[in-house]
This record gives sequence, C-alpha cells and structure tokens, in this order.
Amino acid sequence: MSLRITVIGTGYLGATHAAAMAELGFEVLGLDVVKEKVELLSAGRVPMYEPGLEELLRKHVAGVEGSSGRLRFTTDWDEVADFGDVHFVCVNTPQKHGEYGCDMSYVDAAIDTLAPRLDRPCLVVGKSTVPVGSAARLARRLAELAPAGAQAELAWNPEFLREGFAVEDTLRPDRIVVGVASERAEKVLREVYAAPLDSGTPFVVADYPTAELVKTAANAFLATKISFINAMAEICEAAGGDVVKLAEAIGYDDRIGKKFLRAGVGFGGGCLPKDIRAFMARAGELGADQALTFLREVDSINMRRRAHMVELAREACGETFLGRRIAVLGAAFKPDSDDVRDSPALNVAGQIHLQGGQVTVYDPKGMENARRVFPTLSYAASAEDALRGADIVLHLTEWPEFRALDPGRLAQVVSRPHLIDGRNTLDPVPWRAAGWTFRAMGRPAA
Ligand code: UGA
Repeated sequence: MSLRITVIGTGYLGATHAAAMAELGFEVLGLDVVKEKVELLSAGRVPMYEPGLEELLRKHVAGVEGSSGRLRFTTDWDEVADFGDVHFVCVNTPQKHGEYGCDMSYVDAAIDTLAPRLDRPCLVVGKSTVPVGSAARLARRLAELAPAGAQAELAWNPEFLREGFAVEDTLRPDRIVVGVASERAEKVLREVYAAPLDSGTPFVVADYPTAELVKTAANAFLATKISFINAMAEICEAAGGDVVKLAEAIGYDDRIGKKFLRAGVGFGGGCLPKDIRAFMARAGELGADQALTFLREVDSINMRRRAHMVELAREACGETFLGRRIAVLGAAFKPDSDDVRDSPALNVAGQIHLQGGQVTVYDPKGMENARRVFPTLSYAASAEDALRGADIVLHLTEWPEFRALDPGRLAQVVSRPHLIDGRNTLDPVPWRAAGWTFRAMGRPAA
C-alpha cells in the first residue's frame, strides 16, 4: 500500500509540499494550528500569492469539483498521527525577537504535540530551516515521547524552494538532500521521492548535521554572492564604473556564473537575512564564530544598500524630503510574491516617510500585506496613480509590469521626471530619451 503523508504547518513551504505530494500520487493530510487557514485551504484557496499553487491545490483538494480528492486539511493532531506513515514538519523558524538566533518554538511544539500520539512505525521528516544540531536533539525528544519508541524515527530533509517558483521547485527540485540515521529512513524517503529520483534528480544522503548545514550554507552562499556584487556596485559608484556590465562580464566565467549577481537594494524576505544571522549565532554557540564573521560583513553590505537608496533619493530631492512626493514602485521583497517580510522596498519607503517625505506605494500583489505592516504610507491602485505628481520615482521591486511602463506617457504624469532604479532591471535608454533623469545603483549617472 502506498505511504500516507501528513504535512504539519501550511505556510509557503507546507502548503506547496502538501499539494506536490498529492500531485505525486500520495494521500495527504495537512495540519495547521490556524483554523482559518485550514478552512481556506480546504476550500481550495491559498492564503498567499504563489503562482500555480492554487491550481495545483484545487487539482487535489477533496471537495473541489473534479479534484483527485487526495488532499485534505485538518487542525486535529490525533487524526494526523493516526493517518500518517510519513510526517513532514514544515513550520516556520523566524528570527528571535531582539536576537540573531532562530526561534525553534514552533518546531519544538510540533514535535512535542505529535510525538506522544505516535503509536505505530512512522518517519517524522523535518523540512524547516533549523540550527545545526537540532535534528539530533529532536530525535532524542521523539524517542523519549513516542509510544512507538524506536519505530518512530526522525529524518531531516531541507527545502530549497524559492518563493515565486515554489511549485516548480517542489515538483522538479534540483537536488534532494536527506539527513538520516538509518537505512530504513533512507528507504522510506526514496519511496516518497521515487518520481523525481526516476527522472534523474540527484539524491544526497547525509547525516543529520550535514543535511541541516547544506541548507544554511546554501543560503549563506547566495547572500554572499548578492552582497559581493553590491560591494562591487559601491566601488563602481566611487570609480565611475558600471556594475551591470561588470556582472555580465564576470558571469561569462562559468565558475562564477551569471545568477544572483544583480546589484541593487539587496536581499530581503523571510529567509536569507534571518538565516545568515541564525547561522552566525549557532556558530558562536559551537565555538566556531570566527568561521562566519564574514557574514556580518555580508549583512552590513546588504543593509547599507537600503540606506544608500534613501541617500540617493534625498539627494535627488534637493537634500530634504520635506514637502516632496516620492513614488515607490514595489513593496514585496521580490517579484511574483506578495511577501513583504524584511522587504528592502518597504524598508526604504518607511525610512523616507519617517524623514518627512510623502510616500505613495504601488505593488501588483503585495499591497494588502504592506498596508498591514506600514499603515501610515499611502497606497495607490496602479503604478500611474502612484506616480501622479511625484518629485521622484523609486523602482524597488522588479515586477515585469514595471518594465512595460511607458516613460513618455509617465513623464506627463509626474511633477519631475526623475527615476532611480534600485533593481537594475529597467533599460535607461527609453527613459532618458523620454526626458527622464535616470539613475541606477552602481551605474554611471548619465
Ligand atoms: C531563498 C533561496 O533562494 C531558496 O533556495 C531557499 O529555499 C529560500 O530562500 C528559503 O530558505 O526558504 P527566497 O527567499 O524565496 O529564496 O528568495 P530569493 O530568490 O533567494 O531572493 C532573495 C532576495 O535576494 C530577494 O529580495 C531578491 O530580490 C534578492 N536578490 C536576488 C538580489 O538582490 N539580487 C540577485 O541577484 C538575486
């Protein structure tokens, strides 16, 4: 009989994983402690914007017409324990308030609630991003609490999905990494991932600490790559160079590669910033803090980008934001997402507002979340509305919609045609041709 799967925590990671497991043919039960989320998902609706996810969910959620019926959601832990042969733990691990370390309370609570209910053989698989050493600790906790004893085993299976590509990354991952303590656990995971493994996806079997570290190392590397090119942007600005050209030229070297070399306002979101901080905190606890002191620099280069964008904007406004109208294009931390967690765009908008500027924000999908975080900013219903009467326009999240804007038409709408590209994805030529003063981070002024 096919394995039955549960997914605990139905945020970006869990909701996508649950739908993907149903797509692979498994019977799946998702659990969340938030009743409203469970009701929404059970009706085939997704509580966030993630391209393709709602379609995949509706293809499988029981009760939706024409669905496979393989996917259900619940708030009931007994039902989950009873149902599952494999339990995926997908709850979030945010940054602790006022500290670098990561908050493990949701993961700990999930294990503590599930384990005492596990009275038959099963595999609990952690997918959340955790500090190295957590899996070993949680395995001990599981053994202590589960009536099934050693028959209830733990594995760690980090997730590398990107928001905006969550469905694609989950259905067709570039690698599957598992941290296991037994051959039995490896065998179960090979069965779960039989379809991607058959189509050639690399399968890396490691011990717990290595599997946990793969995830944090990958995000630390990505963050470092972005901060590297942003450091080059600082040098380019000082020396009169063009960081976009520089990135293109070094990117042809396939040891370096073109990806993640886009300079601009830097990285944000719910993962890279908090993961590098949690990594440093954990290294400190392990007595290996020196190994990761460079991440402090990666973090400060990144945070400097936001401050630099505010400076560029202030300079363009005649050294004061007082009485100036600032249009901000973008609120999400990246395009194809409505996620505004630690968003550089919103952070810049907020700083300018606090310095007295009248800021109007437009984002294709992130408005509702942005309003919740920054209710005091003004929000417009379209890019053109945001730009009306603006003294300066800041392009801070690179939605495709913004690349399609008509510079000629917009020059008539603003009070002063002045734009700063904080993502280096707009083509300066048509903007300048339409009479705009166009600046971009790390590129020559004209
Ligand atoms: C990141 C990783 O890319 C995923 O592999 C990982 O699974 C995920 O974190 C996680 O830990 O859950 P994500 O946060 O969705 O995914 O976003 P990214 O695509 O990595 O972008 C992060 C930030 O870097 C965004 O603010 C983006 O605008 C910025 N960025 C990206 C740049 O500034 N320049 C670039 O060249 C690329």
